Amino acid sequence: SAAEKDGHDWFMRKEIYEQPQAVADALLGRRTPSGALQLDEMRLSEQELRDVDKIIVIACGTAFYAGLVAKYAIEHWCRIPVEVELAHEFRYRDPILTANTLVVAISQSGETADTLQAIRHARVQGSRVLAICNTNGSTIPRESDAVIYTHAGPEIGVASTKGFITQLVASYLLGLYLAQVRGTMFGDEITAVVNDLEEMPAHLQTLIDRKDEIYALAAELKDARSVLFLGRHAGYPVALEGALKLKELAYIHAEGFAAGELKHGPIALIEEGLPVFCVVPPRGRDQLHDKMISAIQEIRARGARTLLLVEEDDPAVASYADSVIPLPRVPVLLQPLVAVVPLQLFACELASLLGHDVDQPRNLAKSVTVE
Ligand code: G6P
Repeated sequence: SAAEKDGHDWFMRKEIYEQPQAVADALLGRRTPSGALQLDEMRLSEQELRDVDKIIVIACGTAFYAGLVAKYAIEHWCRIPVEVELAHEFRYRDPILTANTLVVAISQSGETADTLQAIRHARVQGSRVLAICNTNGSTIPRESDAVIYTHAGPEIGVASTKGFITQLVASYLLGLYLAQVRGTMFGDEITAVVNDLEEMPAHLQTLIDRKDEIYALAAELKDARSVLFLGRHAGYPVALEGALKLKELAYIHAEGFAAGELKHGPIALIEEGLPVFCVVPPRGRDQLHDKMISAIQEIRARGARTLLLVEEDDPAVASYADSVIPLPRVPVLLQPLVAVVPLQLFACELASLLGHDVDQPRNLAKSVTVE
């Protein structure tokens, strides 16, 4: 009923709007009085965490993209090699697992059969399993050695939104906790990132307050036959997620690419008027931002309609943008948290304008409990 949806037409829309609160809840109680990070359902000893020499993140769907972001953060902060794999591919390829491998299973529902089979396989091989999960007492956390609950609250819309964003938060917390235990970051560096995370609810609210601009864009593009998404570094998984949302909700052909890969194939798809969302990395000491700008110039020269998700007041982009979607200024590793929101709003609105059932897209299930 409308009451259950707080007066919104779709649970998904309501759940997108709940993200500032979901992120705040996901961060609640994670610091001790002395300021150190604590993860109460961690259950793995500090020694076990110090012994970890490889992490394999396994997940399906949107949760897999959260895993891709986790790789960028954990490798950078902890210097532990991280592989990310779709659970169904992992399970049947004879993966190399030892007692020092930490398998991180990301699953909103905690019931996805592919992910469950994968963690059972990992445990039989002697690896430790940590679940990042939104559903208390579900099967995957029950069968894991440790769990970080995401505290997003129940998610009804089949397409994950607040589930995803809190999976990102939990992944960052895991990375920071490992860095704390293993000593790969100083305490004040960890605190600085946690402080940045604590500013996220306000940033997310700013993005949601600007929803009408995104809804207008959805109305303009509702007859598009294909939409592309480009990103690089931590923005690459965001591009994949933006495309997935559009496919599953609006039934429009959509693909996400790593911007650096353009010249190796995808640029052949560019034609006059093709909408391309580009997640522009924040300006920084690295060259990510400038390299993205040159990719944008390349596609624009070939007629693409460029929709740039870019931090506000970036003077470099204006001349290459058909539309600018301003993002709050945040560090590159945390940018997925803010960059995904306009893409969620876009897919939700566009699907709704096309008359589709946003909460129950055709052929999809909230939780896939068969392999
Ligand atoms: C289904 C849902 C997706 C979800 C995926 C993984 O395919 O439609 O929205 O991302 O399962 O679900 P999980 O509960 O394991 O995160």
